[in-house]
Amino acid sequence: MNREDFPILKNNVIYLDSGATTLKPKCVIDKISDYYTNYSANTHRGDYDLSLKVDYEYENARDIIKDFINAKFREEIIFTSGTTDSINIIANGFFRNILDQNDEIIITKSEHASNIMPWFKIAKEVGCKIKYIPLDENYHVTIENFKKEITQNTKLISLAHITNVVGDIRPIKEITELAHEIGAFVVVDGAQSVGHIKTDVQDLDVDFLAFSGHKMCGPTGIGVLYGRKELLDNVIPTNLGGGMNESFDDEDNVLLKELPHRLEAGTPPIAEAIGLGEAIKYLSNIGMDNIHKYEMELKNYLIDKLVKIPHLDIINIKSDSGVIAFNVDKIFSQDVAYYLNKYHICVRAGSHCAKVLKSETHVANTLRVSLYFYNTKEEIDMLVHLLSDKDRIEKEMLL
Ligand code: ALA
Repeated sequence: MNREDFPILKNNVIYLDSGATTLKPKCVIDKISDYYTNYSANTHRGDYDLSLKVDYEYENARDIIKDFINAKFREEIIFTSGTTDSINIIANGFFRNILDQNDEIIITKSEHASNIMPWFKIAKEVGCKIKYIPLDENYHVTIENFKKEITQNTKLISLAHITNVVGDIRPIKEITELAHEIGAFVVVDGAQSVGHIKTDVQDLDVDFLAFSGHKMCGPTGIGVLYGRKELLDNVIPTNLGGGMNESFDDEDNVLLKELPHRLEAGTPPIAEAIGLGEAIKYLSNIGMDNIHKYEMELKNYLIDKLVKIPHLDIINIKSDSGVIAFNVDKIFSQDVAYYLNKYHICVRAGSHCAKVLKSETHVANTLRVSLYFYNTKEEIDMLVHLLSDKDRIEKEMLL
């Protein structure tokens, strides 16, 4: 699908690592280049035409994102450097101030480091408890298991919408409904989901959503923090400096700006925000439902072939997304990744930053294939062909 839009694919590479970062289409590359070539001024700081053009493009990107995730107000879209930054901003600037030692934070063991480590820090600082929703036999979250963990003390549930190793889609809407009945907040890590499935924050009714531009055809260094306006109004900025204050004086009398600028201290990643806006326009033109449908077709095609290879152990045969993790029997995942690299196939090997997951799967490292709409069945055939001969892997991996 749309392969001709990706200049890098002309280089004879089989890119199966879109969970780490996606490829960039030419329209995004051109949009960024246009900013640097033709109007590379700062934003919200100049009164001349070039700067006003930047203001227009930067704020237009915010509007594009607002519409894409169906936020109610444009002030609810904060530009950050990525999902990790977004989660840390609310952990330190919001939850740090409202949680106390009687509270519970609920996560799972299949979360990415960015959705575990910030909560451990906060839990340590305020003395509250971290709880895990037990995962089912496929390492998925079920509502029944969630109900077992939620109590009147639960204040926060923070979950990936799609996880980066198991690839399951969580029932976020149902979880949010139950959480809100007891006054708990729901944070969603959308790093692996927003570029892959339709995301409607009002329909899901989530309190915060964090995601990254580079995992959805956009540039690196840009992400989004969405939050309901009344909550973002209460986030205490963790970064202070230019662009976020109305005034300050020599006695530390400070007046901060309104949202969204209050939470965007310093010169923002301007080219990256504009590039993300373009990436979203590009994805919207293809259609998120079409993207998901095609990814599922590819994933089913891949799984059907992998299950027939006797020396493979697949971790997540029930993946709901284009993420498949597996191992070649008794061969270290990184050695297989090196072997595939000889044939210009890019996959990720290791723990994929989900380092707590091994306590559930009892597998520390895996090979991970993560598909996107620009992949093809022919690419999968090549991968399967190379994986199907174990003797060849053993012979060639160390050469
Ligand atoms: N979070 C990215 C991944 O899953 C880097 O690969």
